[in-house]
Amino acid sequence: MKILIIGAASAIAKATARIYAEQGNDLFLLGRNEEALNGIADDLKVRGASSIGLACLDLTKSAQHESSIQQAIDEMDGLDIALICHGSLPNQEKAEVDFKLAKKEIDTNGLSVISLLTVLSEKLSQRKCGTIAVITSVAGDRGRQPNFVYGAAKSLVSTYLQGLRGKLRADQVHVIDIRPGLVDSPMTAHMEKGALWSSPERIASKIVQSIAKKKHTVYAPGYWRAIMFVVRLIPEVVFKRLKF
Ligand SMILES: NC(=O)c1ccc[n+]([C@@H]2O[C@H](COP(=O)([O-])OP(=O)(O)OC[C@H]3O[C@@H](n4cnc5c(N)ncnc54)[C@H](OP(=O)(O)O)[C@@H]3O)[C@@H](O)[C@H]2O)c1
Repeated sequence: MKILIIGAASAIAKATARIYAEQGNDLFLLGRNEEALNGIADDLKVRGASSIGLACLDLTKSAQHESSIQQAIDEMDGLDIALICHGSLPNQEKAEVDFKLAKKEIDTNGLSVISLLTVLSEKLSQRKCGTIAVITSVAGDRGRQPNFVYGAAKSLVSTYLQGLRGKLRADQVHVIDIRPGLVDSPMTAHMEKGALWSSPERIASKIVQSIAKKKHTVYAPGYWRAIMFVVRLIPEVVFKRLKF
């Protein structure tokens, strides 16, 4: 398969790319840190990838999305799976009083993804096949006090994916929304870890399985589906008092 990984230096992306490399797939990596991408590409070659290409860009620069995605398609001579992984976890207290910061975070976690989806939808619709998979978050399921700027951006993407899934169905393009819970990665390095935490490798394995099974909305690990079901049921009159 020909697989484009966007935000390829993320811990979850790297673990997912390793599985795809070991299966002998063609990979194209998109990210902003050239040195990191070159290191990842070398590792993936050793692990068995058929071919590896890469391109560097700040993913908030949406004007470059079309040319970068086209480069990936040209170099791999096709596209079967596009996996969007980049993201950033803002400091909520700062972002809720500084609109410039909130906008930057919503751009990274929300608008840049919508721009990529716009290009990918068109390319895959023309080809009448393929899968678009996006890592969003359980944080998008409900606006919680400690992270509602990040959650709002993720929820924007999840809602967009829901509509896009229906629209692309006629063109045989599949759309998957992957919602991880707490994952031990550089993004959460500053946070104290506990029983609900997972490794990037566990999430990666769930991503690969879910794409193969053409799932729609995936909680990773699966127990987050039950947790978020309960969180969504809490009446607003109670929820507004909760600080978790
Ligand atoms: N960790 C969690 O608990 C958790 C939970 C739910 C969802 N998620 C989501 O999972 C995805 C992967 O995150 P992760 O946990 O693997 O974290 P991570 O290792 O910190 O990866 C985040 C990646 O996003 C990249 N990135 C951020 N802004 C970018 C930009 N403007 N242009 C290009 N690349 C940019 C970073 O690039 P650099 O390497 O250059 O900094 C980094 O590689 C994200 O969408 C995140 O929101 C994570």
